[in-house]
Amino acid sequence: MDQIQYLKNLEQNYTNSSALDGNTANLIHLVNANGMTISLMDIGATWLSCTLPINNGIREVLLRSPNMLEHNKHTAYLGATVGRFANRIAKGKFEIDGIQYQLDINNGENALHGGLKGFDKRRWIIEDKSQQHVIFSLFSEDGDQGYPGNLEVSVTFTLTDDNAVNIEYHANTDKKSPVNFTNHAYFNLAGIDSNISVLEHSLQINAKHYLPTTETMIPTGELKPVQNTSFDFTQTKIIGRDFLTDADQKIASGYDHSFIFAKEITNAKNIVATLISPSQDVRMHIKTTKPAMQLYTGNFLKGNQGVGKKIENHDGLALETQYFPDSPNQKQLCQDYGINCIYLEPEVAYYHQTIYLFEF
Ligand code: GLA
Repeated sequence: MDQIQYLKNLEQNYTNSSALDGNTANLIHLVNANGMTISLMDIGATWLSCTLPINNGIREVLLRSPNMLEHNKHTAYLGATVGRFANRIAKGKFEIDGIQYQLDINNGENALHGGLKGFDKRRWIIEDKSQQHVIFSLFSEDGDQGYPGNLEVSVTFTLTDDNAVNIEYHANTDKKSPVNFTNHAYFNLAGIDSNISVLEHSLQINAKHYLPTTETMIPTGELKPVQNTSFDFTQTKIIGRDFLTDADQKIASGYDHSFIFAKEITNAKNIVATLISPSQDVRMHIKTTKPAMQLYTGNFLKGNQGVGKKIENHDGLALETQYFPDSPNQKQLCQDYGINCIYLEPEVAYYHQTIYLFEF
């Protein structure tokens, strides 16, 4: 199928039934000079598709639903902009200046990914767009999903001619609030129709530490060295090699953990992680300003409907650049790291950037 037809089909499939708000989704397709494309949607400011021109064809490297009807049902945050707070907050509780807040609980006993109606389910406003960029914005009112403060947020996606997807987040609030955005794209660099598991991919992560978790996936507070554990990706390693070999992974049915970067490489210029397809024909480098990245190997993906097939566990993996999970209750980790990732304060501008750079 040629690229134009592929994007037409995608557009049709996502607009022939309505989004959760009863209206039609809006899709934006960006194309660069090399014929790489990315498609974004205003619902969830979602990164829906990423095609690479390879061997005179196109390779789709992002997992998604086949159409809007299924998109409305999936539970995997496929490609979404996650907020107001990505990852878990223990029991949905935190305290700011003596006031206790209680968020909705939507993941066991915890709050996950911004709540029952997180930013992934909202319609964002398309503020601006061109052939190679789009800016989405959202207003989240004081009390939204239990969070304090009116929050204005925008996310810009730019597809550059050096095959980078550059994601930039801006936000400000009028009351102290936990704020932590990420993009929840699931990658499969062999192609989503390849039937090749992400466990066959190779990964390198420039992180000497990770955060082990409790049974409910909340960090224990320990900053644990990766050395001599299955979490050591400092040298490129096939993801499946040490899969499920230790207790920390068994808790999560695989990798679903935060890897901590040395502060000096969190400048969006150094490479913090590299994912490589099994045949080594595609590499994806990540650069970011965030202190940490959740590696989630799609341990619970099974059951969601994908394009032309049911999605299986490990059909895609997420590399979610973030703050520390549960950071409003993990103050020591934030303080030791030397970053204010506990709350966003009024008058402080939230700005973060993550780049996914493709080589093919
Ligand atoms: C994150 C979490 C996972 C899972 C996915 C969404 O990566 O850490 O445990 O909830 O989101 O399915």
